[in-house]
Amino acid sequence: MAIHWITEENEKRIDALLAEMTLEEKIGQMRQPGPSLVGAFEVSFEELLDMRFDGKISDEEFQKMMSSVKMDYREEEVKAGKVGSFNGVSGAETVNAIQENALQSRHKIPLLFGMDVIHGYKTVYPIPLALAGSFEPELYRRAAEMAAEEASAAGVHWTYAPMVDVARDARWGRISEGAGEDTYLASVFAVHTVQGFQGEDISDGKHIIACAKHFAAYGGAEAGRDYNTIDISEQKLREVYLPPFEAAIKAGVGTLMPAFNDISGVPCSVNHQLLTEILRDEWGFEGFLISDANAIDECVNHGIAEDRKDAARQSVLAGMDMDMSSDCFFQNLEQLVKEGKVAEAEIDQAVRRILRLKFALGLVDQPIRTNTEREQETMLKPEFRALAREAAEKSIVLLKNENEALPLAGGKTLALIGALAADGEQMLGAWAMGGDGEACVSVKAALEAARQPFTWISGRKEDGSVDSEGIRTLCGQADIVLVAAGEQKEESGEAASRGELSLHPEDRDILRLVKESGKKSVLLLFNGRPLVLTEEVELVDAILECWHPGTEAGNAIVNILTGKVNPSAKITASFPAAVGQCPIYYNHTSTGRPAGKGKFTSKYLDIPVEPLYPFGYGLSYTSYEYANLKAEIREEAFQIEVTVKNTGERAGEEAVQIYLQDVAASRVRPVKELKAFEKVALEAGEQRKLCFTIPVAEMGFYSAGAVAAKPARIVESGLFRVYAGGNSRDTLCTEISYAEL
Ligand code: BGC
Repeated sequence: MAIHWITEENEKRIDALLAEMTLEEKIGQMRQPGPSLVGAFEVSFEELLDMRFDGKISDEEFQKMMSSVKMDYREEEVKAGKVGSFNGVSGAETVNAIQENALQSRHKIPLLFGMDVIHGYKTVYPIPLALAGSFEPELYRRAAEMAAEEASAAGVHWTYAPMVDVARDARWGRISEGAGEDTYLASVFAVHTVQGFQGEDISDGKHIIACAKHFAAYGGAEAGRDYNTIDISEQKLREVYLPPFEAAIKAGVGTLMPAFNDISGVPCSVNHQLLTEILRDEWGFEGFLISDANAIDECVNHGIAEDRKDAARQSVLAGMDMDMSSDCFFQNLEQLVKEGKVAEAEIDQAVRRILRLKFALGLVDQPIRTNTEREQETMLKPEFRALAREAAEKSIVLLKNENEALPLAGGKTLALIGALAADGEQMLGAWAMGGDGEACVSVKAALEAARQPFTWISGRKEDGSVDSEGIRTLCGQADIVLVAAGEQKEESGEAASRGELSLHPEDRDILRLVKESGKKSVLLLFNGRPLVLTEEVELVDAILECWHPGTEAGNAIVNILTGKVNPSAKITASFPAAVGQCPIYYNHTSTGRPAGKGKFTSKYLDIPVEPLYPFGYGLSYTSYEYANLKAEIREEAFQIEVTVKNTGERAGEEAVQIYLQDVAASRVRPVKELKAFEKVALEAGEQRKLCFTIPVAEMGFYSAGAVAAKPARIVESGLFRVYAGGNSRDTLCTEISYAEL
């Protein structure tokens, strides 16, 4: 059941508070700074990060400088009611101490502590792109609920998750943070993740407020370059990028974060149409908006605001409620109100929305909500680790398996190559701020724990070059060689766009050496985005796409390698055959000249037009057969049935996918769209008939004139195709006609 943030009782309490608060105190509620750093160096934290990134200081120097600094939690400002929320602060002791300061302010309004709890807090589960591939909504929910329980025990009230950006370009590093390229899947992911974080009773102390981000179309960044512009039609915005946000709102999400980018010339942080007309007027969103970090200030860089004051004015008038990091609101809103450029009613409105959540969370009545004992007891509980393992097992995708490479046969001599196989911390992925790297199990550690004899080498010399001799010798002694390769965790996530998507040249050289040895080989991939594996596929017998699987990485991988667990995950973003295909996604619209043999068709001269692996793809140690696909229309819904049989010799789980296509319509439609799925467990030889009901309205779209006049989804009579299969490419197909009532 979705949470309702507006209650009569709380609105009355907010009225009373607003009547007492000074303008400065109100603006304080709209302010979310990070802690400032006080230390022995003269640069800001951001500059320090840049220095490390540019290699001007080493990691060691960076750590040393960091240990010499103290966090300044703005004690005096907090006591004066000039801060409404903190970003990135956690730990029961720290949070409680800061909260005590807030309770000394005139109105004793507690601070809201927000943090990026993206895929786990201390116990880390797989990156969202991986978890989405489990095709198990209930798992999305349980994982978020676990994260909420840990984070809330550490004093966190609010997470900036889920990221529900549809992402179709593997060059974009943040593709790792969302559910991938499909709008329907991203919406399902949004709903269940929001429900997991927020629970049924947001005030129970074990759940946290969620934040759907980045509103909107951030994933559409031109050329896959983070923060880049996007220029799209309103139809595409509404059909591809907005539905997951609307779904999150229907599920009761408390907050939304406008995106950094501009859409067709209007930065989201000052976009009235998005932040007010669509969000509030059309969708009835009751929560509040938090800007992305420093995004209000960045409107000056965008060239849409003359200065920070102008940026603050435009943003608040567009509908923004809280300013993350930039302090543009705090430094300018009072003046803007005095000058009559912003009405105080606008400020009251924003503060009301923020206070609504503080009340609903129960924060005002119980500002101190955890303690160090609870915190210690809650972190990394065995049942959390078990869930993290289950999530990883269900997120790892078998992309290739030939020559009976997997599961590993017993009694064979095993070799393991690659630093990533021995580095637990790397398993965390890019967005696991609270994650405990030391608690992560590497593949090497898990093989050792399983008493599986093997020999490990990193495959590199000290200077980073390939240790050819070591690799040749090791391969000579082994029956089967596992090679761990992919991306360091920092190579995906924010500000981690890439122009090349193949494995790093050294890793490819390692694979070539293994191939030369003639031994059976398995590539264990650790990465945060689809990679281009066209050459790699030819070099190995099997590929396990492990992503960044989190705390229980090694244990989950070993369970799959040994066959204790049968892989069942699917990829939720196409794996391009070459970077030049990006952006590439299965649900593209039809062209007048579909790719074919003729010259004048939509294709490339030098690279294939199809992805290497399509959306929804993933193998298993067993096989499935689809049959008897039938469709009819009853009660304004597509009634679809299909029989799925496990034709192999092992039990397994299959994510059955249903796609629809509107064959002819008044606007060009996608060639296929995922509209339903179900994960089924089948014993060897077992078959099951599955039934799906998809309301015809799900095939609605915005006709060309409709958006400008009145945004309305329409469905037209005519022919529809129904596809069923284990991925978006290999499907059965049937047709059905729909006649409007
Ligand atoms: C990211 C957001 C994140 C915020 C706070 C920004 O740079 O874009 O996704 O929630 O930082 O850490």
